[in-house]
Amino acid sequence: MTQYLMAIDQGTTSTRAIIYNTQGVPLWQSQREFGQHYPEDGWVEHDPEEIWETTLEVCRQVLKKGHLKAGDIAGIGITNQRETTLVWDRVSGEPIYNAIVWQDRRTAAHCEALKQQGREGMVAARTGLLLDPYFSATKIAWILDKVEGARARAEAGELLFGTVDSFLLWRLTAGKSHKTDATNASRTLLFDIHRQCWDEALLELFRVPAAMLPQVEDCCADFGVTDASLLGAEIPLVAIAGDQQAALVGQACLQPGMAKSTYGTGCFMMLNTGEVAVQSSNRLLTTVAYRLKGEVSYAVEGSIFIAGAAVQWLRDGIRLIPHSSVTEALAREARESGVYLVPAFTGLGAPYWDPNARGAIMGLTRDTGIAEIVAAGLQSVCYQTRDLLLAMQADGAQKPGTLRVDGGMVVNNWLVQFLADMLDVPVERPEVTETTALGVAYLAGLQLGIYQTLEEIGSLWYGDRRFEVEMEEPQRKVLYEGWLNAVERVRTNR
Ligand code: G3P
Repeated sequence: MTQYLMAIDQGTTSTRAIIYNTQGVPLWQSQREFGQHYPEDGWVEHDPEEIWETTLEVCRQVLKKGHLKAGDIAGIGITNQRETTLVWDRVSGEPIYNAIVWQDRRTAAHCEALKQQGREGMVAARTGLLLDPYFSATKIAWILDKVEGARARAEAGELLFGTVDSFLLWRLTAGKSHKTDATNASRTLLFDIHRQCWDEALLELFRVPAAMLPQVEDCCADFGVTDASLLGAEIPLVAIAGDQQAALVGQACLQPGMAKSTYGTGCFMMLNTGEVAVQSSNRLLTTVAYRLKGEVSYAVEGSIFIAGAAVQWLRDGIRLIPHSSVTEALAREARESGVYLVPAFTGLGAPYWDPNARGAIMGLTRDTGIAEIVAAGLQSVCYQTRDLLLAMQADGAQKPGTLRVDGGMVVNNWLVQFLADMLDVPVERPEVTETTALGVAYLAGLQLGIYQTLEEIGSLWYGDRRFEVEMEEPQRKVLYEGWLNAVERVRTNR
């Protein structure tokens, strides 16, 4: 019997389900975008019911596209936008507030207050993270403090917390399974990445009752089965990984020293550091890359909040372009202009960590046109990647021999060439650029015994194109210095 694997990829702007064969070839996919809510400056929310409904819908649609039944799917893996925080009623399953999205900055003052109390050192030593609103803990506290009666109900064990993976798992199993995996847990600010457990002192610091927390499993585990009423029959749920960690697996960066960068809504660069949890001195994050059979591999991560979202803003926000596909031709046509776009719409992430910074376009002249602004938007993504690479090198990492890139933006050849030029590192693009879903499908296959080892998974990686460095150092230097000047002008925390 043919065996298929299904990946659910619940991202920041869309939900997808993809069915793969056991060679990792995507056969059918279904995708739905959903609403973004911005109730106040710097706030970003999702409707949990929309997250759930789009998930169910894409799973049903993708089965239909393949003329498959639930029984044809050997197992499902879930990968997800990380850190986004949900709290729901243990009995009714109803969320008590919208999902507070990872990009949301509403808890900036809470984080600042904890920093002033000198707590960041202890938090970073245990979690590998920093005190920034990006992560889940202060978002949970905000919900418990602001929703009437929530704190008392949480303390009485009536409420559950989960990142999106846990929420979907809980719904898919009709409330039978309240679990997460170590990669998602490692993004909450509540999880000790060295001891691999929820940390009592952190729970106390952020005032989060332990009774709310999901059980933490390996990435490959028995997470439960889908309720038969949802997809026609039960399907085993066998893998979970945060989307950036899943992309690391999908890119087969499975050896220490290998790096990938994913260009979705944001950009996330990860360097596999193997069994060593490297503590950054340059404000990068230490995170769980994957945990298999209890063994943890770590990564250093640089997180940029706005990458593809800058193009989305050019399209939907100020309507400069009708479709993202026109950006490549426009960038080719742009003059060398000295225009810089700093997309700090929701503050700046690594290595600046400035939640109060806001975006800017600088260097405009009378002859600046749409093409120059679009090019500056694409270039901003590459400059930010260089910021991360330099921070990793300052932490002692070797410059990688190549960087593997993926995500929606990398279909743009102009962007990837500029990236290679700006990094001074050749960039490799895989044949399958949607590596997030692929990575969790591989993890599902590992749990089901379809693949025996990570090496076997690594052998399935195929490159599509390699972009060599073409720019000379003097030009790179001038362009990047212009970027650093532009960033300095929007920063608030120098
Ligand atoms: O940390 C946030 C990240 O997981 C979101 O990823 O692909 O939805 O931009 P993406």
